[in-house]
Amino acid sequence: QSTVLIDSFNRLHNYLRISLTERCNLRCQYCMPEKGVNLSPSSHLLSTNEILHLIRIFTTYGGVNKIRLTGGEPTIRKDLVDIVRGVRSYPTMKTIGITTNGVLLHRLLEPLAEAGLNSLNISLDTLVQEKFEFLTRRAAFARVLSNIRLALDMPKSYPLVKINCVVMQGINTDELNDFVELARDQPNLAVRFIEYMPFDDNKWNEKKYFPYEEMLKIIKQKYNLQKLAQMDKNDTTKWYRVQDDSYKGRIGFITSMSEHFCSTCNRIRVTADGQLKVCLFDNKEVSLRDVLRSGASDEEIYSLIQRTLYKKDKEHLPVDVLHTQENRPMILIGG
Ligand code: GTP
Ligand code: 5AD
Ligand code: SF4
Repeated sequence: QSTVLIDSFNRLHNYLRISLTERCNLRCQYCMPEKGVNLSPSSHLLSTNEILHLIRIFTTYGGVNKIRLTGGEPTIRKDLVDIVRGVRSYPTMKTIGITTNGVLLHRLLEPLAEAGLNSLNISLDTLVQEKFEFLTRRAAFARVLSNIRLALDMPKSYPLVKINCVVMQGINTDELNDFVELARDQPNLAVRFIEYMPFDDNKWNEKKYFPYEEMLKIIKQKYNLQKLAQMDKNDTTKWYRVQDDSYKGRIGFITSMSEHFCSTCNRIRVTADGQLKVCLFDNKEVSLRDVLRSGASDEEIYSLIQRTLYKKDKEHLPVDVLHTQENRPMILIGG
């Protein structure tokens, strides 16, 4: 029954990112406007059963073996643990991950691990409390830090915790080396520096964009870096370690803008309101929710997914054009 999901450039898509909610308990400036976004009426959002139904189609027909649950903030969804458990019931499923701001993790680390979660990415853009409150417009810094420590104390469940740090000129470029230090004693911690990407309502501008090469310059002034191999062939991250026997962790760079990785893209997305998005920067969405609710068969839904994927572009536009394109705000995509 299982085929594979390939596009017209022969890229195999085995990694589904599904957004569970449009809401978030933080208000990060690079993700959403302070006043929030227009939320979909709840009847437009996918239910637990619809999410699991779509995942079943992607997995059993399309060979998807990696799922990342995103948001908004996925830990806000009351059925998060049930969804993870449902996804884990597929014997072919390898990786189940969430990308979270970490605020609610203290209650969830154990139940999620027990349900089968095995990949945890936590967003943290500053190590300074006041700056955290400025960037996120909320007071949760101490909680997030302590929850990261709790996660690092569960290496069996979470063998590699990744911290996602979006780098913005004039905001946190002075902290890059502090983030490098964070992973010194932590074999199961990876800090990833992410180039700032433009989305609707996210305050992007050329002056805040800070490319990989510039980040490397700053870090190399203080450290000798050793380049490491990719973790797998679809890895979006360029990995390094500090060449120093006492350095246990690793750092990485996600260079979406200066050196994109579209040629090895294996990612396909479903938004919280059930739109299929074949690329982070694609705005020709197709509603899987509507076909699901019309009573279409799994074969018909899968065929729609295949046909839509076949129209996926080769790569996204260069950053100087990309920022003029319309796209959803990041909070309504999930990264
Ligand atoms: P793992 O590789 O499983 O750890 O996850 P990930 O890095 O794909 O997911 P995560 O949600 O942690 O995203 C990290 C950063 O990569 C975010 O800024 C995402 O927006 C970005 N990202 C994820 N997938 C893509 C992609 O397909 N294209 C681009 N350009 N950026 C992506
Ligand atoms: N550019 C780059 N990364 C972003 N993220 C959110 N908005 C942006 C942006 N504009 C990151 C979050 C989270 C991941 C899903 O995407 O910090 O870690
Ligand atoms: Fe894939 Fe689009 Fe991201 Fe490129 S920008 S890596 S094609 S999702």
